[in-house]
Order: sequence, then structure tokens, then C-alpha cells
Amino acid sequence: MSHILKKFPKDPPGPVVTKAEGVYLHTDDGRKLLDTTGGWTSCAALGYSHPVVLEAMREQMSKFTHVDYNIFTNPMLEELAELLLSQAPKGMNRVYFAGNGGSEAMEGALKLSYQLHYDAGKRDKQWYIGRDQSFYGSTMHCAVVSELPVLKMYEPLLPIQRALVPQHNPYLNMLPGESLDDYARRGAKDLEDKILEIGAHRVAGFVGETQLGSLVGDVPAAPGYWKYIREVCDRHDVHLILDEIYCGLGRSGKIYNISNDDVTPDFIVIGKNLGAGHAPISAVITDNRLESVVLGPHGSGRLNQGHTHQGYSLGAAAALAVQKIVHSPEMLAHINSLGAHMRGRLESELGNHPFFRNVRGRGLLFSIEYDCKDKNVFGLTLAKNLNEKHCVLINSKWHRVSFTPAYILSREQADFVLDGFVAEFKAIAETWPRD
Ligand SMILES: Cc1ncc(COP(=O)(O)O)c(C=O)c1O
Repeated sequence: MSHILKKFPKDPPGPVVTKAEGVYLHTDDGRKLLDTTGGWTSCAALGYSHPVVLEAMREQMSKFTHVDYNIFTNPMLEELAELLLSQAPKGMNRVYFAGNGGSEAMEGALKLSYQLHYDAGKRDKQWYIGRDQSFYGSTMHCAVVSELPVLKMYEPLLPIQRALVPQHNPYLNMLPGESLDDYARRGAKDLEDKILEIGAHRVAGFVGETQLGSLVGDVPAAPGYWKYIREVCDRHDVHLILDEIYCGLGRSGKIYNISNDDVTPDFIVIGKNLGAGHAPISAVITDNRLESVVLGPHGSGRLNQGHTHQGYSLGAAAALAVQKIVHSPEMLAHINSLGAHMRGRLESELGNHPFFRNVRGRGLLFSIEYDCKDKNVFGLTLAKNLNEKHCVLINSKWHRVSFTPAYILSREQADFVLDGFVAEFKAIAETWPRD
């Protein structure tokens, strides 16, 4: 009997992983599973036990595992910051190492944003606007800007300065006859209307995932959306805070997903793929305005937040090794071409299937959506068959399967996954009711 309090207490215990290497998980029942989920929560960007990353961690451990970087200079963190900024949107020139998880970094970004207004004397700016059906992390302040049915019970505990605008999802919310550009402009207008309703002098920031993530299934924004949102934010002195915890650091085929739109936000939040599951570490990419405001005439003279394990030294060693690999042009080219190949195969082999709705996403972050009776059960059956018959782990939820494999997945491994996926999809659908 387990004494661990688990998220889904009714679920039977899973197998024990005895070894994890590359894209494979070896379990104590003698199986070797090919993982297309990147460690289920999509953090294993370079697969498991990457030898170069492990070596960097071993070397760091032989010196020490953590000393505080606010007191001692850590050349490795300096190098990591420089690397992370090398492909950041124009004008972004500071990295705040927030802590271990994405939630801590999102919480950090909200606080940095608030302090940037506060120390500039704009103390009424206390509202943050999020979007329907979004998740920015598990801390209370992250829950404030998120919107999900499972978070609803916490509402009485949350501060009230939050507002929501509709989810930006062209697949779900475009009106008949509306062009993508019209839809993108409508999304920006929703935000502007909300800012004016609250009062621009009260609104501090707008929070969004650059590309909708695992809840909705990997939907990139309509072209122009982020540019229009940026213009609205600029008009009303509202910070644009982008969550790239799930969709950043190579997942989209670019280091930053927002680079697909050529927009500079005020904050980009990164986590998961930074240490890529080898060590937890998260950060916020921003610029040097905070320093000048904090050290300015009305400034606090310091950042009013910090954590014991921020910039964790062992995590920094892992993240630097990971990011050197991820930032290489060859790796980004591989992510783009393999992602295009996999999406292309799904479209060409399942595009005419009566259950097929669409394939969407970028790089190695994409989903296939289907529609049929009991689609959640259809997806779970697909996952079960792939696991049991093909030793392939996939992530199916509600109306879609999301693929977030390790960037090191080879073309042969991808084809093996897709052969099984397409065959099982068709076989199960043969006897599955359409509606
Ligand atoms: C988009 C997004 N934001 C924030 C988080 C929170 O990150 P963490 O679980 O590392 O705290 C997640 C985690 O799944 C996420 O997908």
C-alpha cells in the first residue's frame, strides 16, 4: 500500500521505471516504452539521461551543488543567461532566475511586473488579465490569472484583481465569414475593451501562453494576434507577460515561440525545457527597465522577492548543457523538419478519415483532434492499444492526442510511432460509433 497522496487517488499504481534512456522508459515488468510525451508533462526535451547533460552535472557535483548567486558570482549562470538572451526578442537583455518550477517563475514575473509599476509610482496598477481555459501554474497568484474548472474552488481564497478575456482559439471561436486577421483583431479588441472597463490606470498586465498548451491542444495564435495585443498593451501601459513554460525553448522550432510573430513582450516565462527534466530550474526573460526603476528616485532599491534555490547551481549546470544543444541550428532544423514530417503524415494518412478534425501546432509540439461518440474514451482506447500492442506512450485527452516527444526522436522512431498510431486509429474507429 502506498502512503503517497496522489493527484488521482483512484488510479492503480503504475509500473516502476528501472531505467530511462534516450526516448525510452524501461519498466520493472520488462517492457521498453517509446515515450512521445516528453516525460508526460513535456519536460524531457532531450529525452532521458542525456550523456552530455549528465556529465556536466557530475562535474558540477564534484565542486558543489548550490551556492547563492546573489552573493557569489556563478559564471555558469552568466553564460546561461547570455545564451538565453542570444535569441530572445529584440531589446530583452535580462534573465531573472526564478526558482525550480514554472509556477514559481510565473509568480516571479507577476511580482516583477507589479514592482516595475509600483516603483515607477503607478500604484493603482494591480489588475492582471488572463484568458478563459488557461493554466499558468499551481501557486495562488498563478491561479488568479488562470481559468479552469478544477481551479474554481480556490476562488474565494484569491485576490480579486483579475479579469478574463475569451480564449484565443481560431479552431473554436472564429465566427462564420470572419477572416483570421479579423479574428486576431477581435481578440485584441476584447482585451482593450476589458482594460477600458477596469480603467487603464488600474491594469498592470496581460498574461497568455504564446501558443495554447495542453488543455486545448497546441493551438498557435492567428497571425497578427500578438502584434495587435502588443499595440493595445502599449497604448495602456500594460505589461505583456508570455507563458512559454510549455511551448518555449525549441519546442516550436524556434527558441522562443513568440519569435514566430516578431513581437517583444515585457516578460517571457520559461521552465520545463530549461533543465529538460534533468534538474528543475525556471526563469523570466525581461529587460533592464526594472533595474533603472528599482534604483530610481522612487524605487525600492532591490527586488522584493527571492527563493532559497533560485538559480540552483546544479540546475544551472544541467540547463547550460541542455541549452547549448537546443540552441544549435542543427537541433532546431531537426525539430522543424521532424515536426513537419509527423504532421504531414498524420494529415495525409488520416485527413480523409470521418473522425479527423485537424492537426495543428509547430515544431515538436502538435495535436491531432478527432470527433466521434465518447471521444475521450476513444482517445484512451487509442493510448491503451498503443501502449499494450506497440510499447508507445501517447498523451490523449478529451478530443485530441498531443505529441511532445524529445527533440532527439529520430525519423525512424517517429515513423514507428506513426505506423502504430495510424493503424490503431483506423482499427478502433472501424467499430466505433461516429455520433
Ligand atoms: C503553460 C504552463 N504554465 C505553467 C505551468 C506550471 O509549471 P510547473 O508545473 O513547472 O510549476 C505549466 C505546467 O504544466 C504549463 O503547462
